[in-house]
Amino acid sequence: MCHSLLGWCKTEAQHRSTFTNTKRYILLVVLALTFGAVSPGQDSTTSAAFRGLPVRSTLADPAIESKVDALLKQMTLEEKVGQLVQYSVGTAAGPGTGREDYDDLVAKGEVGSLYNLNGAAAANHYQHIAMEKARLHIPLINGLDVIHGYRTEFPVPLGLAATWDPELVQKAARIAAEEASAAGVRWTFSPMVDIARDPRWGRMIEGAGEDPYLGSVMARAYVRGYQGPKLNASDSIAACAKHFVGYGAAEGGRDYNTTEISVHTLHEVYLPPFYAALDAGSPTIMSAFSVLNGVPAAANPFTLTQILRDEWHFPGIADSDFGAVRELMAHGIANDGETAAYRAFSAGLDMDMEGNIYHQYLAELVNSGKISEARLDESVRRVLRVKFAVGLFDHPYTDESREKTGPLPRQNLDVARTAAERSFVLLRNESINSRHLLPLTNAQQTVALIGPLADDAGEMLGSWSSHGQPSDVVTLKAALTERLGADRVKYAKGAEFRTATDEQIGAAVNAARSADVAILALGEDAPTMTAEAASRAHLDLPGRQEELLEKVCATGKPVVLLLFTGRPLTLPWAFAHVPAVIEAWYPGVQAGPALVRILYGEAAPSGRLTVTWPRAVGQIPLYYDALSTGRPAGNVDLTRPPSNAVEKYVSRYIDEVNAPQFPFGFGLSYTGFRYSAPAVSTTKLSARDLAQDLRSRPADSKTVITVTADVTNTGKVAADEVVQLYVGLRGTSTAEPVRALKAFQRVSLAPGETKKVSFSLTPESFAVWDIQNNYTVEPCEARIWVSPDSASGSPVLVEIGQ
Ligand code: NOJ
Repeated sequence: MCHSLLGWCKTEAQHRSTFTNTKRYILLVVLALTFGAVSPGQDSTTSAAFRGLPVRSTLADPAIESKVDALLKQMTLEEKVGQLVQYSVGTAAGPGTGREDYDDLVAKGEVGSLYNLNGAAAANHYQHIAMEKARLHIPLINGLDVIHGYRTEFPVPLGLAATWDPELVQKAARIAAEEASAAGVRWTFSPMVDIARDPRWGRMIEGAGEDPYLGSVMARAYVRGYQGPKLNASDSIAACAKHFVGYGAAEGGRDYNTTEISVHTLHEVYLPPFYAALDAGSPTIMSAFSVLNGVPAAANPFTLTQILRDEWHFPGIADSDFGAVRELMAHGIANDGETAAYRAFSAGLDMDMEGNIYHQYLAELVNSGKISEARLDESVRRVLRVKFAVGLFDHPYTDESREKTGPLPRQNLDVARTAAERSFVLLRNESINSRHLLPLTNAQQTVALIGPLADDAGEMLGSWSSHGQPSDVVTLKAALTERLGADRVKYAKGAEFRTATDEQIGAAVNAARSADVAILALGEDAPTMTAEAASRAHLDLPGRQEELLEKVCATGKPVVLLLFTGRPLTLPWAFAHVPAVIEAWYPGVQAGPALVRILYGEAAPSGRLTVTWPRAVGQIPLYYDALSTGRPAGNVDLTRPPSNAVEKYVSRYIDEVNAPQFPFGFGLSYTGFRYSAPAVSTTKLSARDLAQDLRSRPADSKTVITVTADVTNTGKVAADEVVQLYVGLRGTSTAEPVRALKAFQRVSLAPGETKKVSFSLTPESFAVWDIQNNYTVEPCEARIWVSPDSASGSPVLVEIGQ
């Protein structure tokens, strides 16, 4: 049974065969726009809506609606279709488009959005045509993939997430918006909020990792940063939450591959960051390339209409991904362009990015009556709404004097350096002669600096680096040389990414022999190995880099391994033998200075993993918030093959332990932290009260229980700790994760200092999607951990009664 807002809800199967009741849908949107939220009285005790509430939208403005009405009345069919067409200008133009004259297209009103334009002058060029030559003077909205910075490049998103610092991420996104908007960009295709649990998938680098809660917090931070206090300010850019939905679950980690995700898991794991992004005000969303439960995401009415419109009441644009409407033919659900257009559009997809399918076929579908003009108007309305909300009708042009070409401003570099510093995760730091190898000291006179990533400025920008310029980057070699002086740094590249000569390896080994310590900067080539269309079946160091590492270690010199990757790599030898290992991701323009500060202890490492780090590819997918099996391994020693039935018939591998190399949330510091047992403000809660609270705003800020723990810095250096709170529910109608992140705080602690860390949990912290797929709180036992990662600590129990 399904209860929803106004009692209207369809099953997924119904949605595959039927389409929306347009009038009712418009009524819902108008209600949502008018009242912002539906009052609890209109809802039943349980709700099929995601949180029982529509997303809060920056587009809900009656003044905009009347302007859109007036415009819609004047538009021809072709002009309406034009608003739903989006093209990339220049070299990235997609297959099957065959266009050349963008000026002409814009003048005729046949395109609503361009993207990949290069700079403010180019943006203004097309905007002038739209505003002066096109009949109705409707501005274009100019898009670009601004993913982790425009020119000031910050760490890649997986690195930014590893900071566990949403305020910092928001600041980075704000700087990106200021720079991008100065170049005429008013729409970024970011944040990527896909939950990723398979490091074989090359796009894990673009998101916040595996956790829905952390992913939601980061999603909000990006949207707030991009959109600033006012979306229509000239230095704001519209966000786009992508890729809706489940793209990160591609089977086998192979990009663009099929996904099978139950409705329960969709709601508990994959949808929350999308909801968060839209609820924070993202006015656009992009569909995924993948097939979800048999239906391509670009033509999936269950996600694009039932969830997005009927349940969340999202009034903004659903854009396709690049050419995805055309790809419906390759998926095999359309044998011609007209059917592809029909399937995508009737499923609820408003805009066709690059496919040239809506452009060719949508008007004909309306003329033949297969698509109603009212339905067309709905989508055009969404596009116009966003253009009004972004302020494009009032201020269509970019002030070209804002576009900066000089050096990056100091304040941007400071944010970039801090972000990089906080993103590094110290994975291992063994003692040599009873002292941890890191931080390095000045007593280590000479340093051998080795590896393909030690002095490659372009690589530090990572993939999707927008307008980042290698000349803005300070590499590790440059920063180390600046600190130590050239005569103390012995640089030998040692290897290329995929190859190495014996001479290169030999020279690196010699450099290590003649130095006091060796730093190896190894990893993946960002643009080709850890990006879109960069799935890997083997997660080792590419080429001869592992051999290089082992040979340098064989010199007996202390070795620090810096990993530059967009995903965890399975490196069992390194994690057993290399004394110090830091995951550095791709740190951005301030890579070198940030690394040197960490290496020399001017700041303590404080990044924490946002993805579980597997030991072996065969463990994948591996994530911390798993369900318990009926045969948990319990106390069985998994380091040995099973020797009897008790050891064998449990959920295990016979040739590998279940545990990851490093758990989610993990990261070492240069100090130690002691946690007290958590204390709770109450040990009893009422499921009925919590469920009721879930459906009224502000449910997300109503405190129902406070959890505190004392955290002490037990060492001799000041450091930040990321204090994590996990909840596990037992006794619910569906199996729930053994523990799941529900809150966290980054706290700074002086040596010896103790802070009482306090968490205010809301009803959402205890909510589940129950056996009937209702979002609710059920009577159960809650276990609450406050711990430094997802694998340690002891829980306190709270009873959630009727
Ligand atoms: C394809 C990618 O999947 C998407 O993330 C990106 O935003 C578009 N291309 C536009 O470049």
